[in-house]
This record gives sequence, C-alpha cells and structure tokens, in this order.
Amino acid sequence: MVQRPRGTRDFLPDEMEKRRHYEAALRRVAKTFGFREVATPIFEESELFTLKSGPNVLDELYVFKDKGNREIALRPEMTAPTIRMFVNEMSNNPKPIKVFYFGQCFRYERPQSGRYREFFQFGAELIGNFDAESDAEIIAMASSMIKVFGLKNYIIKIGHIGILKQKVISAGVPEKCVVGVLQKLDKKLYDEARLLLLEMGVSEENIRGIFEFTETVGGVDVLSRVPGETGDYLRRVFDLLLAMGVGNVVIDLGVVRGLDYYTGIVFEVEAPTLGAEKQICGGGAYSLSELFGGERVFSTGFAVGFDRAIIAAEKEGLVCESESIKVYVLPTSKDMQIYASRVVANLRAADIVSDIEIMGRRVSKAMKYASAIGAEYVVIVGAQEIQQDSVMLRNMVSGEQKLVKISNLIEEIQ
Ligand code: HAM
Repeated sequence: MVQRPRGTRDFLPDEMEKRRHYEAALRRVAKTFGFREVATPIFEESELFTLKSGPNVLDELYVFKDKGNREIALRPEMTAPTIRMFVNEMSNNPKPIKVFYFGQCFRYERPQSGRYREFFQFGAELIGNFDAESDAEIIAMASSMIKVFGLKNYIIKIGHIGILKQKVISAGVPEKCVVGVLQKLDKKLYDEARLLLLEMGVSEENIRGIFEFTETVGGVDVLSRVPGETGDYLRRVFDLLLAMGVGNVVIDLGVVRGLDYYTGIVFEVEAPTLGAEKQICGGGAYSLSELFGGERVFSTGFAVGFDRAIIAAEKEGLVCESESIKVYVLPTSKDMQIYASRVVANLRAADIVSDIEIMGRRVSKAMKYASAIGAEYVVIVGAQEIQQDSVMLRNMVSGEQKLVKISNLIEEIQ
C-alpha cells in the first residue's frame, strides 16, 4: 500500500470542518485589525530562504532542481515570500501595508507530536513602519488569534533581539559568530553555548552575564534592567498592550527565535500543555526587503502555528462541533427519485444542508444510514404522500413523524 510521506497528515471530514472553522475565525480577526489577505507560491527560488533565514532553516529546507535546472525550495515560512511580493508588487503602496496569509509550510524536521514536515501557518506582516505602535498592533492581533482557539493556558513572552545581540557582542563575541551563539541559546543548549563562547575567548564572568540576561523574566518591572531607549521602547509596547486589554504577557529577555532576520522586538506564545513543542506562535520586528532588491523597509509580523494551536485547544478539552446533515431525503422507490431530487434541490436552494438517498436502498436500510450520518430529519418521498402534494417528515431525534405539504416543508424544517 502506498503511504503518505513521513511528517505529513491526511485530514478527514470532521478534522477539515474544524480547521475551516478556526481558519474562518482567524480571517475575521485579521480583518477586524485592518489586514487584507495575500497568497504567494508554495515554492520559490531557494535563495529567497537561504539569504537570511539562519542555520536552523537551512538544515530543514526542502530543495530540489526543477527541469530547467533552477534551484527551488518549498517554503519553510511565509515572511520572506511576503516581503519578496512586497518588493515586486507593492513597494509604492501607502504605508503601512497590512497583510495576512494562511497556508502550508515545509520543514525537514524530525516528526513528533506537534512537529510536522508539512504544517500550516496563519500569519500577518505589517510592512513599512518601525515603532512600538506597530509592534503592539501585531502582538495584540496575535493575542486575539490565540483567543479564537479558546485557550486559557498560554503565555506571551516578549523580548528584544537587539539588546541580546548587543550583550553577546559586548561580551567579546565577533559579530559574524553571534548567530551561532543565538542558535544555541534559542534551543536552550546552555552547555553547547558555553563551550562555543569559551572557544571564542569569552570569560566565565561574561558567559554567566549572558546566561543571566537570557533568564530575565517578569513583569514590566524587570525593564529596570534594560537601560536606555530599548527599555523605554519595551515599556511603551507594554503600555499599549495594556490599553488594548492584552493579557498573559511577560517580558522574557531570553526569547531568541530560530530565524535570523529579526532586528528588534521578538515574541513567542507558548501553550505549556503541549510539552516540548509548546510554541504556538512566533514573531517580531525585522528587515528583509533590502535583501530582495528593494529599499530597506522595517516590518513586524508573526505566524500562528495553526496545527499546534488546535492541539492545544483539544488538550484544554475545547470542542468544535461540526455541522451535520440537516435533512436526508429518501425516495421509497426508484419511481420517486425524480420527485425526491426536486425536493432536495429546493431544500439546498434554501441553504438547508441536505442529502439524498442515491444507492437505491430500501427504507429501513436508508434510515440506518441517515441515523449514522447524524441527519436531524428524514423526508420520505412516497407515491401515496405525493398524491396529496405532501411528504412524510420524520424528526430523527424525537422519532416523531408527520405529513407535511411540500409548500410548507422548508418553513417546517426551519
Ligand atoms: P516560526 O517561529 O519559525 O516563525 O514559526 C511560526 C510557528 O509555526 C511556530 O511558533 C510554530 O507554532 C509553528 N511551527 C514551526 N515549525 C513547525 C513544525 N515543524 N510543525 C508544526 N508547527 C510548526 C516564522 O515562521 C516566522 N515567519 C514568523 C514571523 C512572521 N515573523 C515575522 N513575521
């Protein structure tokens, strides 16, 4: 039997219905924040991702040569494609440009619960501005999106990659080696980070200083440890979030992020119920457009890990009811099929979710099927009833059955 590739999933109807429900709710949130949807290709020239994504992404990239010998990559994320699109198509639009997207991404990771090789992101980018107001807008929208899933148990951790980078550089790390150190810190591999720092000649005291700094976590009060403009900036973001009623926020100067393009604020949302793969959203301020041939334009954005957010909701016992078949139309014989088709067409035209028996089954068998698919009503179309311009309407929950005039059927069901 041919199996699906490792790290991918099939989505059956119940699952798909749930996913579409969340997707629609997330789209609505994005719209209420003034963002508009865009879509970019699932594959791009690999350079788009290799230029600045950082070593984590490079190791995980799906790359292949196409028949024209071009090096193509499946997108591992959608920020770089969105900024490429901005440079190609939207650079003259009035700023800020607020766009959102939903789609699958591919990373050659080791699959486990909550970590897939094909996964879905719902993300947004606010392009063309660099200030606390933009970052607060983005974090507030991320928070509203987490609420869509009904989660209670989550935390929004806000840090600043600029000050962390500065701290690492002033400890004696050469600028070109900073990414490597941050990569270890991102994965909380402190022993490996320590060895790397020692190799670079960083003193024990400075290493301790870096580690302590990354463990600075708390409310707005911990910002007393962040001097100057950056501290003021983070305080302003905090105040704006407070004004917008965004809760569950902490300052965490150890937020590093796996991608290499961030320049300012960085944030992650964690759902502790998920264990190892608890990060359900990540984002921050960055600049990428200059790499793709445009002017330098600052942006800020985030992506919700759609699959993980759904698992987190399930872990919290939240259920998303699927819409079952409302009416099952059942002709009692082949002769009645045309008439029954007319009935079902009228129900569907009235936006009633309806199905019809097409397997030529006898009434008792067809009734079993209607019950198995959760139909609320069965409309029995028989010769005798039709002579009276009527059908038999059976309520599958109460078992009640009554003769209803065809002209009253929709009203009766509604
Ligand atoms: P990211 O943190 O790499 O950021 O991915 C965003 C989210 O995608 C993660 O928080 C996680 O929930 C989910 N995710 C990542 N890898 C997997 C996987 N293998 N399986 C399931 N879920 C996964 C970005 O991609 C940035 N582009 C976000 C951004 C937008 N920054 C600025 N704008």
